[in-house]
Amino acid sequence: MEIVLTGEGGPEMLRVTEGDAPMPGRARVRVRVEATGVSFAEVQMLRRRYPLQPKYPFVPGYDLVGTVSEIGPGVEGVRVGDRVAALTRTGAWRTHVVVKAAQIVPVPADLDAGVAEAVVMNGVTAWQMLHQVAKVRRGQTVLVHGASGGVGTLLVRLAVAAGARVIGTASAAKRDLLVSAGAEPIDYRTENVPTRVRQLAPGGVDAVFDHLGTASVTESYELLADGGIVVSYGSATTVNDQGHWTTPYFGMIARVLGWQIQRLRGRGRGRRFSFYYVKPGPRFTEALTQLFALVAAGTLDPPITARYPLDKAAEALRVLAEGHSTGKVVLEV
Ligand SMILES: NC(=O)c1ccc[n+]([C@@H]2O[C@H](COP(=O)([O-])OP(=O)(O)OC[C@H]3O[C@@H](n4cnc5c(N)ncnc54)[C@H](OP(=O)(O)O)[C@@H]3O)[C@@H](O)[C@H]2O)c1
Repeated sequence: MEIVLTGEGGPEMLRVTEGDAPMPGRARVRVRVEATGVSFAEVQMLRRRYPLQPKYPFVPGYDLVGTVSEIGPGVEGVRVGDRVAALTRTGAWRTHVVVKAAQIVPVPADLDAGVAEAVVMNGVTAWQMLHQVAKVRRGQTVLVHGASGGVGTLLVRLAVAAGARVIGTASAAKRDLLVSAGAEPIDYRTENVPTRVRQLAPGGVDAVFDHLGTASVTESYELLADGGIVVSYGSATTVNDQGHWTTPYFGMIARVLGWQIQRLRGRGRGRRFSFYYVKPGPRFTEALTQLFALVAAGTLDPPITARYPLDKAAEALRVLAEGHSTGKVVLEV
């Protein structure tokens, strides 16, 4: 079985089709999928707004957890039956997926597939932004936009575990979730976010994790303390825009170049700006392996909003598209 996104529109544009179980080519393995994730990327793909998305029709699915079922020529160190995870960007909403053997990450045998799935893309994104890009330290203050989302809930948990003070934005209905995770909530729909952040952290914040893009990155930069950093990793506010998906990026890039020039002239107060994009490779494998260890030890408990069978992908995507998610939405196969 596979789920095909047939065109622009709402979740009703997804079709369940038979699909097949392709044989893996050189240096590739076939994985029998146990769980795959629903993410905001697919909401953007529905609206043709995800950077460099394939042409319709295509099979979405950014990441997966499963079991190796077939091994292609030239693959060493992998056995049929191994449990693995992979970042695919698209194509994971299938019962069988062929992936590059070099990009699979071992999954502990007794870890629940849905729980493991919840930390593949979202966990690595949160981990790398926090520990490798912003390098957040104990005692620092960070602002997490969308602290109720798949990435945001993990950012909050990992930042709190690192000893940071966390301010998080979310809609009012998700306030309790933020508080229970250790964040100070701001309702971005009814409160003025910059004003409220300045009240909570008059000296500025050390890091802002911004998935909103466009105008928000300027506000985020202005909220920084000396030496602080904005990590920009999405453009969620453009999801309902018209026109080409690249258009909002031009203004943002111009602003970032302006800040770089200011920095080079020594007038930037040490503030930095970084774009983040998750990708497979040795650093991805290293981060995901650490995350699986934290989950297996019970130190990290990724919130899962709902689990749906693969053929109910449209219902699952609707949960995210309509803003009802608080954590990860998982498709089980
Ligand atoms: N660069 C990368 O490598 C990378 C990797 C993974 C994800 N991402 C990006 O990360 C973002 C989150 O993805 P996800 O799958 O975690 O999505 P998600 O679960 O749908 O979470 C998105 C969150 O954004 C919040 N939100 C919406 N508008 C907001 C606003 N104006 N101010 C503050 N929060 C707002 C929502 O909060 P409420 O529901 O409370 O309204 C929701 O919790 C997406 O933009 C995605 O493209 C980027």
